[in-house]
Amino acid sequence: MRVLGIETSCDETGIAVYDDEAGLLSNQLYSQIKLHADYGGVVPELAARDHVRNTVPLIQKALKETDMHLQHKIDAVAYTAGPGLVSALLVGATIGRALAFAWKVPAIPVHHMEGHLLTPMLEKEPPEFPFVVLLVSGGHTQLLSATGIGKYILLGESIDDAAGEAFDKTANLLGLDYPGGSMLSKIAQQGITGRFTFPRPMIDRPGLDFSFAGLKTFAAKTIRENADDAQTLADIARAFEDALVDTLMIKCKRALEQTGLKRLVVAGGVSANFKLRECISRMMQERSSKVFYARPEFCTDNGAMIAYAGMARLKGGARGELAINVRPRWPLEELPAI
Ligand code: KG4
Ligand code: ZN
Repeated sequence: MRVLGIETSCDETGIAVYDDEAGLLSNQLYSQIKLHADYGGVVPELAARDHVRNTVPLIQKALKETDMHLQHKIDAVAYTAGPGLVSALLVGATIGRALAFAWKVPAIPVHHMEGHLLTPMLEKEPPEFPFVVLLVSGGHTQLLSATGIGKYILLGESIDDAAGEAFDKTANLLGLDYPGGSMLSKIAQQGITGRFTFPRPMIDRPGLDFSFAGLKTFAAKTIRENADDAQTLADIARAFEDALVDTLMIKCKRALEQTGLKRLVVAGGVSANFKLRECISRMMQERSSKVFYARPEFCTDNGAMIAYAGMARLKGGARGELAINVRPRWPLEELPAI
């Protein structure tokens, strides 16, 4: 079976074709980063208009690449139905639903964060359920236990900024273009560990919630009170990244202890972060436990994860209604189990 996946929840148009036997047949991505850079963040109306321009041409490209001008070889169309920017979601949802209707195949609404959560399944050594999952993206920071597809229990989440958001806001303070997460990380490589020390928020309190808004404030204060030469900025970036990564690692460890689970999945844009992987992998090695990531291009938004999650849902009997419903907010725990 083959599923066409459409991702338009934020600032990336992602289109992919996933075959349950052959794997990923095509994966197309158009990033709008340049469009939003001048504004320091994603402008929803501009994002939606750009998805309108790019979605159909990218679908054509994906079908052409898989040698499927004959759309009857597609068994379902999966699209991101939320969470995300409503006007951006509507573009993919409308195109996806219309194509499915025209092709007389099921349309499958996919939860964006379930898409992220399942990305390590696209790799050679996929994780088996059950596992703890750390979702770290631009909009979410959550720890969950996952015992099957759609069987998720929220263990903790950020009470303010998401990890990616904290990266991007601090990067902005350091003078980097949006979204500055990966650039901040690059600069931090030149930074001297220990020159500055950032707090590790909420680690003294029990529980698995996070709070990252204070890190951004601490960064602003540190930048203000110190010289802004390149070395100082790199040292601040180093201290910020160390604190954030450490906090995430400590909470993952606590979640594993609390649940007694042995496997950990780390997914979402921030899971591309090298320091985070290094720190979590070391902790997991010490516990003789295994951690699973997706390759970097599947960490940030993409169509492959939507096609994959759509396939899993299709096999579980999911069928979208004819009416198009998108959900800007959508708790993962509300998903039906399959
Ligand atoms: O999952 P994603 O593509 O979009 C959302 O669903 O939000 O995540 C994007 C976020 C951005 O905040 C971006 O700065 C961050 O992931 N990010 C990184 C890295 N690569 C992407 N943050 C830190 N280090 C990276 N290497
Ligand atoms: Zn995402």
